[in-house]
Amino acid sequence: MDPFGRHVDYLRISVTDRCNERCLYCMPEGYKGWETRPDHLTAVEIVRVVRVAAGLGFRKFRLTGGEPLVRPDITGIVEQMTRITGIECVCLSTNGMKLAPLAAPLRQAGLRTINVSLDALDPALYRRITGGDVSRVLAGIRAAVAAGFERIKLNCVLMRGVNEQELWPLVLYSAEHGLPLRFIELMPLTTTDVLTEKNFLPCGEAMQLLGQKDELIPQPDRKLGHGPARYYLLKQTGALVGFIGALTNLHFCDSCNKMRLTADGKVRPCLGNHIEVDLRMALRQGADDRVLKDLLETALRLKPLEHQFRANYQPCRPMTAIGG
Ligand code: 5AD
Ligand code: SF4
Repeated sequence: MDPFGRHVDYLRISVTDRCNERCLYCMPEGYKGWETRPDHLTAVEIVRVVRVAAGLGFRKFRLTGGEPLVRPDITGIVEQMTRITGIECVCLSTNGMKLAPLAAPLRQAGLRTINVSLDALDPALYRRITGGDVSRVLAGIRAAVAAGFERIKLNCVLMRGVNEQELWPLVLYSAEHGLPLRFIELMPLTTTDVLTEKNFLPCGEAMQLLGQKDELIPQPDRKLGHGPARYYLLKQTGALVGFIGALTNLHFCDSCNKMRLTADGKVRPCLGNHIEVDLRMALRQGADDRVLKDLLETALRLKPLEHQFRANYQPCRPMTAIGG
C-alpha cells in the first residue's frame, strides 16, 4: 500500500534507454544524453531487484525501454524473472522492429503478454513519426500471434495534425486481427516540438471521430492487464479499443498501481514527478537485500497522489530513460 491506500504491485523496468526508433514524442531532437553502458543495470542487478520487489508483494513486471529488444540479453532476463516465486506476470512493451525473430524465444522464456506501439499503418507516415519500418513491425506482430502470447495489445499515441486519419484504419486492423488497441494521450515527457498544445488530441475527441464510423459501447468492467485504459467495444467492427487519458481523465491516478525502475537503477514512484530513489548505488556498494527492500519501501512512501502533467511539468529526462 502507498500512503493513499493504493495497492502498488506493478513494476515497470526500463532495461535500456537506447532505441532503434526516433519517435516524434519521445526523443528530443539530436538527443545525446544516452546513459553509458556501465550506468545501465546488468541482467544480474535487474533480476535481483525483481526478486526483492517480488518479496515485497510486487506481482506484475513489465520490461520497457527505450526499446527493450535492443538489449542482447533480454530473453535471458525474462527467463530468470519468470523463475522467481510470487511473480504472476512478466510482460514487455516494444516498438516491434526487432520482434519477428524474438517473439518465439521470448514466449518460450515465459513472457506472457506483449504491447506493441503502432502509431500509424501508412508506411510513409509511420516512418515520419518513428523513423522505422512499419512492415517490420507488422511482421513482428504476426510472429507474436504465431508464438501464442496470452495477449497482444497495440498502442497508438494520439497526435493532432499527425495521425488522426490513421485512427480508423488502426481500428480495422485491430478488429481484423483480434488485438485490443489503445489510444494514448500525448504526455509532456520530453522536450520535443510535437509536445505542444497544438498537437494534443484528447481521448474524448478521438472517441468522437471513431463514433462517426461505429458505435462505441462502454465496457466498464473490462480490465486488460494492469493499466489505466477505459475500454469500449465497437459495435460493427467488433474491435476492442481502450483510451488512456492521462491528461483529461481527472481520476487517472486514483487507481495507479505502479512504480518504475529506470535504466540506470533509480526507482521512480510516478512518471509525472521528479522524485527518484537510487538503487544502483546500493547495488554496487554490496548492500544486502534488506537495504534494497528499504529503498523500494521508501520510494513507495514517496509516491505522490497524482502526476504533475497538468501543472506545467518540465521533463528532466526523456521517457526512454524512465521507461514508457
Ligand atoms: N506520450 C504518450 N505516450 C508515449 N509513449 C512514449 N512517449 C510518449 C509520450 N510522450 C508511449 C509509446 C509506447 C508506450 C510505452 O508509451 O508509444 O506505446
Ligand atoms: Fe523508441 Fe519507444 Fe521512444 Fe519511440 S517511443 S523512440 S519506440 S523508446
